[in-house]
Formats: sequence, C-alpha cells, structure tokens
Amino acid sequence: MPRLTLLDPTRTGMQAEDLESRLRRLVIGQDEAIHQIVRAYQTYLAGLAPVGRPIGNFLFLGPTGSGKTRVVEATAESLVNDPRSVIKIDCAEFQHSHEIAKLIGSPPGYLGHRETQPLLSQEALNQHHTEKVKISFVLFDEIEKASDALWNLLLGILDKATLTLGDNRKVDFSAAMIFLTGKLGATEMSSLLNPRLGFHVAPLEDTGNSAKLRARISGAGIAAARRKFTPEFINRLDKVVVFKSLGAEELRRIVNIELEIVQQRIRAAAASKPFLIDVTDTAREFLLTEGTDVRYGARPLKRAIERMLVHPLSNLMASGQIHRGDCIRVSHEEGSVALIFGREPEAVKAWGVATRAA
Ligand SMILES: Nc1ncnc2c1ncn2[C@@H]1O[C@H](COP(=O)(O)OP(=O)(O)OP(=O)(O)O)[C@@H](O)[C@H]1O
Ligand SMILES: [Mg+2]
Repeated sequence: MPRLTLLDPTRTGMQAEDLESRLRRLVIGQDEAIHQIVRAYQTYLAGLAPVGRPIGNFLFLGPTGSGKTRVVEATAESLVNDPRSVIKIDCAEFQHSHEIAKLIGSPPGYLGHRETQPLLSQEALNQHHTEKVKISFVLFDEIEKASDALWNLLLGILDKATLTLGDNRKVDFSAAMIFLTGKLGATEMSSLLNPRLGFHVAPLEDTGNSAKLRARISGAGIAAARRKFTPEFINRLDKVVVFKSLGAEELRRIVNIELEIVQQRIRAAAASKPFLIDVTDTAREFLLTEGTDVRYGARPLKRAIERMLVHPLSNLMASGQIHRGDCIRVSHEEGSVALIFGREPEAVKAWGVATRAA
C-alpha cells in the first residue's frame, strides 16, 4: 500500500506570510493578535471562511496605548495600502437614535434622509478596495459603551454579516474584518500586573511578560468580557485577544519605528527641503526614558518624540538652519534635558544615500 505523505498544516501561503511579516514590522509585541488576523485572512484567501459571516470577528482588550487600534490600521495599511481606510466607530458617540441614523441613515421621508451618506453604507465599505484586495476593515471602539440599539446592529453584523440601512437597503459585511476594542477588565488586569503602579515605581521588566502572569492577565480580561457580555455575543467572536503591556524592550523597538516615521514625514513635507536625521543610540535611549510611563503604553513615547525632536526640527527648518540634503545628527549628553542637534559635514554624500533610499 502506498505510504501516506505527511503534510504540514501550519505552513501558510505567500500572501498570508507577507501580511504577517509586514504586521510584525509595524506592531511590536502583540503576536497573538497578529496570528489571529493572519489566520482569518488565510482562511478567507483559501475560500474556506464560513459563508455569511465576516472574515473575522475579533475582540481586543488590554492596556491603553498597547497597539489595539494600531494593529487594525497596520492590517489595512498592509493589505490596501491605507491605514485610514479603517471605518472607526466610537461606540460612546452613538447613544441616541438620531446618532444611530448617522451610521445607517434614516427611513425615507425623515428629515435629513439622503442628505448624508450613512457611515456604514456598502459604498463606504467598498471605497478603499484595491484591484487586488476587496476587504473592508471596521473598528468599533469601546464597545462596553454601546447602546442597546447599536448593540443589536452589531450582533447582526457579527452573526449574519448583514446590516439593514434606514431605507431598507442591505449592507454585506462578508468581506469585512470586524474589530471590537474594549477597556473591560483593565483595573483587574493592571492590579495583577503590578500592584504598585499607582506609585510610579513599576520596574519595566515587571510588565507581565512571564508566561504565568500573562495567562492570569488574559484570564482576567476574558472573565471580565464574559461577565459583561451575553453568551450570544461571546459566541459570535472568533477570538478574544488580551494585549500585553509594553515593556522596555518593546518600547525601544517602537522608538525606532517612530523615528523612521519622522524621517518619512520629513521626506513628505511639502515645505521641507528634504534632509536626513541621524539619531544616535544615546539619543534614542534618552527619548525612551523621557517617554516611558508603563500606564500609558507607547503614547507618552510618541509625545516625547514630538516634543524633544519634531518641534526643535521645525524651528531649525523655519529659521533656515537646515538646508536641502543636510544630514542632521541628533545626540544626547548625560545630564542634559534636551537633545543636541548638529549638521554633519558630509551633507551631500548623505543626501545621495537619502534619495537612493526614498
Ligand atoms: N505594539 C505596538 N507596536 C507599535 N506601535 C505601537 C504599539 N502600541 C502602541 N503603538 C503606538 O502608539 C500609538 C497608540 O496606540 P493605539 O492607538 O494602538 O492604542 P490602543 O491600544 O488602541 O489604546 P486605547 O485603548 O487607549 O485606544 C499607536 O498609534 C502607535 O504609534
Ligand atoms: Mg484604541
């Protein structure tokens, strides 16, 4: 009898692999979320996604500033080249029926009917499709604040991939990824993470990355979701992912990503004469120290980069101290409260490198 050829069901196709590697470059430390998104995408590509359901229904919980929204934007960026193609619905803003009308439009005859396009129309969903990728991304933020009306609407989308608009047209969500984020269980999770957080002494190494603590934190988040939401809702989710608190190592990598983004902004700015920034390791460490507050994830880091780097650079540009093709070295000296900016002598050579990289 011919022998069975063993196959490897963990290997993914090229497109899914490509998505995974892009997401890993953009989002640091949240591999579980990335894994779930890639898995749903792969199933969709293979044509094996359940009929009449969205491509994926995900609930993301966990600390503020840890990448919940970022991973959704990064997925859109990777698949349809535009992080702004995500349709974001802040659930707290849709409490009353006239606000729900902004999402689904009002019935014919009502005041305002046809005046504005509902946020969740088929056209809105499809408008960022590309030649190759016809997937939409919908994000419902802070779902614990959703009103009953919004909740019912959401259940229909998650379960049947359909939404009925005010004028009875149907919107099809079967080619959409639905992301829900929530702050639920945040208190329980952060007290598990570090009971001393309130006193600002939390060492970064203690941000809950040991496997055991991670499991307890995840468990607390999922338990909070089960307490708050009905089983019919929980059963419609493909996955609940509890995001990790970002530790020193993750934040260090995010500094590098954000500095790369600043360089792209310099390149794209119409008013700027493009130049290069060369940020030394000590300057990166300084930004990391300035921008680290474990309670707020990567947000303080981004603010520190704006304050310590982008604002001074804007001044240097506006006052004519930076010229096209310059290479600006950004460094730091111990004890100093600011970064040091200097023009490197080999500007022209550096500019050659910059244009090649662009
Ligand atoms: N894991 C991460 N990898 C890379 N960048 C990150 C990560 N987490 C946060 N950031 C950066 O910080 C910014 C804020 O993060 P994000 O908006 O994703 O927070 P969030 O988890 O959605 O928080 P909230 O619960 O307050 O909405 C992002 O735009 C991104 O630049
Ligand atoms: Mg968010």
